[in-house]
This record gives sequence, C-alpha cells and structure tokens, in this order.
Amino acid sequence: MSTPDDKPKDVFEDSADNADQAQSKDNDSSGDIVISNGSNGLVFLFFIIGFVSSLIIGWIVFPTLLYSKKKQPIDFNHVRHLELVDNECESCHFFHEDGSFSGAPGLAQCVQCHNEVQGDTDHEKDFIENYLYKGREVPWNIYSKQPDCVFFSHAAHVKMAQMTCETCHGNMGNTKNLRDYEENIITGYSRDIWGRSIANMLTLKKNTYERMKMDDCAKCHEAEKGKGASIQTEKEGCFVCHK
Ligand code: HEC
Ligand code: HEC
Ligand code: HEC
Ligand code: HEC
Ligand code: HEC
Repeated sequence: MSTPDDKPKDVFEDSADNADQAQSKDNDSSGDIVISNGSNGLVFLFFIIGFVSSLIIGWIVFPTLLYSKKKQPIDFNHVRHLELVDNECESCHFFHEDGSFSGAPGLAQCVQCHNEVQGDTDHEKDFIENYLYKGREVPWNIYSKQPDCVFFSHAAHVKMAQMTCETCHGNMGNTKNLRDYEENIITGYSRDIWGRSIANMLTLKKNTYERMKMDDCAKCHEAEKGKGASIQTEKEGCFVCHK
C-alpha cells in the first residue's frame, strides 16, 4: 500500500484514501483529508457542522434557556441533621392526625434546637437571624411541586401502599446541600416534573423519581391496578388526581 519513500506523516493520509495521495502531497497540508476529497466532502462537512450545532441548540441550549434557576432561601444539610434527630425523617416530615402530610418543615420543627445557636456557619446565622427570631417561615422551593389542579396524597402512597420516599424523590433525604430549584419559564413547572436530562424528558427513564408527569403517575397506577390504585381511563377517573 505505501511507497518506500513515504514520510511518516503521510502514512495517515495514505491509508485514508490512496487515490488522493498525489494531491495531498502537492498541498503538503497533512490532515486536510476532507478538502482534498473535493466539494462533495466540503458540502458534507458543512452539513455535519450545521446538523450537530442545531442538535446542540435544540437539545442543550434551548432546554437550558427554558429554565430559570433559583437558590433555596437557605441551604440545608440532611445528612448532618439525620445524625441529630430522634425520629429520622419523621422528625420533620410527618403525618398529621387527619392523615394529611406535613410536607416541607416549618419553624416548629427547628426551634427546639435552634433556639440556641448550634454551630458557627453563616447558613445557620442567616437562618436564625432572618427567619427563626423573626418568626418568618422559610419560603422553601418545592422540587416536586405539582400544578394546582393536581391532587396528590402522601398517605395513599406511604401509608397504604408502603412506598419509600426514594421511589418518588430519589436520594434527597441523603444530601448535604439543597440543589438549585429550576422552574420552566413558560409553564411554571418545576424541572423535576419533566425530568432533568434529555433522556428523562423523552421516554427513557430508569427510576420513578426521574420524572413525574401525568403519564408517570398513570403508568405506576396501571401496573398497581390490583392494589387499589385508580387509572385515568376509568369513568370519572380524572378526578382521582385532579381537583
Ligand atoms: C431536621 C429536619 C429534617 C429531617 C430530619 C429530614 N428532612 Fe427532608 N427536608 C428538610 C428541609 C428543611 C427541606 C427543604 C424543603 C424543600 O426545599 O423542599 C427538606 C426537603 C426534603 C425533600 C424535598 C421535597 C421537595 O420536593 O422539595 C425530600 C424528598 C425530603 N426532604 C426527604 C427526607 C427524607 C427521606 C428524610 C429522612 C431520611 C428527611 N427528609 C429528613 C428537613 C428535614
Ligand atoms: C435535633 C436538633 C436540630 C433540629 C431539630 C434542627 N437542627 Fe439545624 N442544626 C443542628 C445542629 C447541632 C447544627 C450544627 C451542625 C454543625 O454545624 O455541624 C445545625 C445546623 C443547621 C444549619 C447550618 C448548617 C448547614 O449549612 O446546613 C442550618 C441552616 C440548619 N441547621 C437549619 C435547620 C432547619 C431549617 C431546621 C428545621 C427544619 C433545623 N435546622 C432543625 C441541630 C438541629
Ligand atoms: C408516590 C410518590 C411519592 C412518594 C412515595 C413520596 N412522595 Fe413526597 N411528594 C410526591 C409528590 C408528587 C409531591 C408534590 C405534591 C404536590 O405538589 O401536591 C411530593 C411532595 C413532597 C414534599 C413537599 C411538600 C410540600 O409541598 O410542602 C416533601 C417534603 C415530601 N414530598 C417528602 C416526602 C417524604 C419524606 C416521603 C417518604 C416518607 C415522600 N415524600 C414520599 C411524591 C411522593
Ligand atoms: C410508583 C408507583 C406510583 C406512582 C409513581 C404514583 N402512584 Fe398514586 N398510587 C399508587 C398506589 C399503589 C396507590 C394505591 C394505594 C392504596 O390505596 O393502597 C396509589 C393511590 C393514589 C391515590 C389515591 C386514590 C386511588 O387511586 O387509590 C391518588 C390520588 C394518587 N395515587 C395520585 C397520584 C399522583 C397524582 C401521582 C403522580 C404525581 C401518583 N399517584 C404517582 C402508586 C403510585
Ligand atoms: C394518576 C393521576 C392522574 C390522573 C388519573 C389524571 N391526571 Fe391529568 N395530570 C396529572 C398530573 C400529575 C399532571 C401534571 C403533570 C403533567 O402535566 O403531566 C396532570 C396534568 C394534566 C393536564 C395539564 C394541566 C396543566 O395545568 O398543565 C391536563 C389537561 C390533564 N391532566 C387532564 C386529565 C384528564 C382529562 C384526565 C382523565 C382522562 C386526567 N388528567 C387524569 C395526573 C393525573
């Protein structure tokens, strides 16, 4: 294949395209394989560049622009607090007597410890001075928040169906920081509902918690039909999850 007098740098071009050997030697611009292929190659190159950049814009830039990021009002360390509380998650996330779920914790769950300063972090100082001592509840951003038309009951899932928090929230209870909250600027939906990566936004999803659209609720209800979960195709079925 190679001629004896080939210099090492020509070897690549040789093996790429023998027919172009003479031309590329004339130009002596090693690496310009595509150009030496003629205008067809050039058109193809521009097509690829255009194609790839539109993919990048459509799949990465545009979805990023669609979401606005908000910092949580204060940071919170789940791991550290779990070492300190007596009743694990339920110390802060519990069911009221009427069966409703407490959700994000209020100051009442913090005050017994933070009445006195516990550590020496700025986060804690900020929390105590700007919220606790002023009696102002922390306006947490709720990652899993559904639109107002949706009715969701933690009791049905956690108490009746015995599901773990991880099934729908992932490892949130095991984190050291609260990540930024991302909100879709058109719909106002939290990023967690439509999924955080392109694959999740489409159909590929490995875990329940990666996305929580209507179809995701329904898919599990369909699968769990025997256990008493309703499905949306049944008569009046819409009003199981909508109000
Ligand atoms: C000392 C109180 C405390 C304890 C104990 C605690 N959490 Fe939290 N949790 C919080 C605070 C504060 C937030 C912030 C609220 C927010 O932004 O959602 C939070 C948020 C969450 C959220 C996010 C909800 C959302 O969609 O925004 C999940 C899920 C959660 N906790 C699960 C757990 C689990 C699971 C455990 C037990 C392993 C646990 N937590 C223990 C205080 C606590
Ligand atoms: C069981 C006692 C206890 C409870 C209940 C508790 N904390 Fe704490 N918290 C601590 C201790 C102790 C520290 C100091 C930890 C350290 O500095 O290592 C701390 C640290 C913090 C910090 C600063 C550290 C950081 O960056 O996360 C914040 C903010 C905080 N707590 C918020 C809260 C909020 C909000 C609640 C109520 C939802 C709460 N805590 C409930 C004991 C508690
Ligand atoms: C079947 C799925 C599912 C399971 C299991 C589940 N959650 Fe949720 N959680 C949700 C959904 C959906 C929302 C949003 C509800 C809404 O916006 O009406 C939510 C909201 C929350 C919130 C924020 C509530 C608020 O608005 O103040 C917290 C905190 C939370 N969950 C903690 C937990 C904890 C702790 C567990 C385990 C004991 C748990 N969740 C189990 C699906 C689930
Ligand atoms: C991973 C499985 C799973 C997911 C995800 C899930 N559910 Fe459920 N859901 C169940 C099961 C199982 C029950 C039945 C509990 C029982 O009554 O024993 C149930 C019950 C309910 C109920 C009580 C009425 C009924 O049908 O029995 C409502 C309301 C509900 N789910 C709404 C939702 C909504 C809204 C979502 C999505 C935001 C959702 N669920 C996501 C499994 C799931
Ligand atoms: C298993 C629970 C469940 C059932 C049953 C259900 N939905 Fe939904 N629906 C949801 C959830 C969760 C959302 C919000 C997330 C989303 O947009 O996918 C939603 C969103 C919607 C929206 C968009 C509303 C908005 O503000 O964006 C419409 C419209 C809707 N549902 C119609 C229906 C109709 C019609 C039925 C009956 C055939 C039905 N749903 C049954 C859970 C359910």
